[in-house]
Amino acid sequence: MKATKYLFIAAVALPMILASCRGQISEKPPVHPNMNMDQQKRFEPQERNEFFDDNRAMRQPVEGTVARGNLKADKAYYQGINEDSSFVDEIPPELTKSFLYRGKDRYEVFCTPCHGIAGDGQGIIMTNNYGFVPAPSFHIDRLRNVSDGYIYSTIANGIRNMPSYAQQIPVKDRWAIVAYVRALQQSQNATEEEIRRYDVDIASMQEEYQQQQAALAEAEEAASQDEGGEVSVERGETIAADNACGACHSTDGSRTVGPTWQNLYGSERPLDDGSTVTADEEYLRESIVEPSAKIAEGFPPSMVPYDHLSDSEINSIIEYIKSLSDLEPPAEEDSESNEESASTGQPADTTMTAEASTQKKSLLVP
Ligand code: HEC
Ligand code: HEC
Repeated sequence: MKATKYLFIAAVALPMILASCRGQISEKPPVHPNMNMDQQKRFEPQERNEFFDDNRAMRQPVEGTVARGNLKADKAYYQGINEDSSFVDEIPPELTKSFLYRGKDRYEVFCTPCHGIAGDGQGIIMTNNYGFVPAPSFHIDRLRNVSDGYIYSTIANGIRNMPSYAQQIPVKDRWAIVAYVRALQQSQNATEEEIRRYDVDIASMQEEYQQQQAALAEAEEAASQDEGGEVSVERGETIAADNACGACHSTDGSRTVGPTWQNLYGSERPLDDGSTVTADEEYLRESIVEPSAKIAEGFPPSMVPYDHLSDSEINSIIEYIKSLSDLEPPAEEDSESNEESASTGQPADTTMTAEASTQKKSLLVP
């Protein structure tokens, strides 16, 4: 018995051990007694292949055919739209508790960095001035009122400054996330009566909420206490850059997601309700801290409020925007000329709008 064992070591194991130590780095594959089909002749992706007329090794699917499992004829499910291309109102998959929890899980993986764990737009990107475009809160009326298909489309196709998550998130999970976003929206918009149906301690919730609000107000107060902060065009330019305003606003007259800042100050700004305002300092300030108050005509109401900026920061940005305009500074008193342009429905600042629409230069960075 013993002899066979030694013989085995000498005859088989030893040469194998020695063969595996080749003493230097080698480009060749390691000793591989059983090849299976690990190394064989084949074409790499995108490789040239003279066999076919078009010299491509990668072949197109045969015309008129669809690979098994790739038929995406169900538009509602795959694209979130109806036959007439409008968004579907409700998610096509059946809504179950586990489906919703799947959505929570995926939401927390993919959406929280920007939209925040509660969907309030306070993701981690907002904490350190990372220079990201802030994501909107889901708890605004506009987004409460959009259809499920619209939110699905946002995930699948991206929207303006938000990239598409189609590569990362499979179709079913996208719908699960939509369901969870809906749940988040309800969670932040429940009436007291609705809450009473559950076994929760409303009084302590209210107390907690008030404490949070107080802390927020305090932080805001502290942030705006930098009255000594210098106000200058240069500082404004830096702050605008740090806050990624340029992702949506150009300074060269071109139209991007939002209106250009070139010649904005002092212009007559048509609004989406048909009225017109003079773009003076006050209008600029309001546009920054409460963008939804007046929506510029022809633009999506997609800017989030930058009310976390301090006064001197906002004033610096205003100075910067002013420096980009050659127009006469607006008169102190509001003139009545506004009504005229409003009633004709003509944008008062036709040069800017015309220029803007011709030069559709995309500054969008995913
Ligand atoms: C990298 C940051 C980021 C991530 C991650 C992100 N978003 Fe967004 N999202 C944005 C930004 C920025 C906007 C605003 C885009 C704009 O208006 O230009 C936005 C807008 C939206 C909107 C509103 C669209 C509108 O009409 O204004 C929805 C809904 C939305 N995101 C859902 C999601 C969901 C769901 C996820 C997770 C799958 C997600 N987002 C992940 C940054 C992000
Ligand atoms: C996600 C895109 C986006 C970002 C980022 C953004 N804005 Fe806007 N902004 C818009 C859009 C869209 C409008 C037009 C709709 C409206 O009036 O709300 C607008 C309007 C404005 C206006 C009024 C312009 C006009 O022509 O009437 C000002 C001023 C403004 N933004 C300043 C800023 C500043 C300052 C920042 C950075 C701190 C900023 N915006 C960041 C999208 C954005």
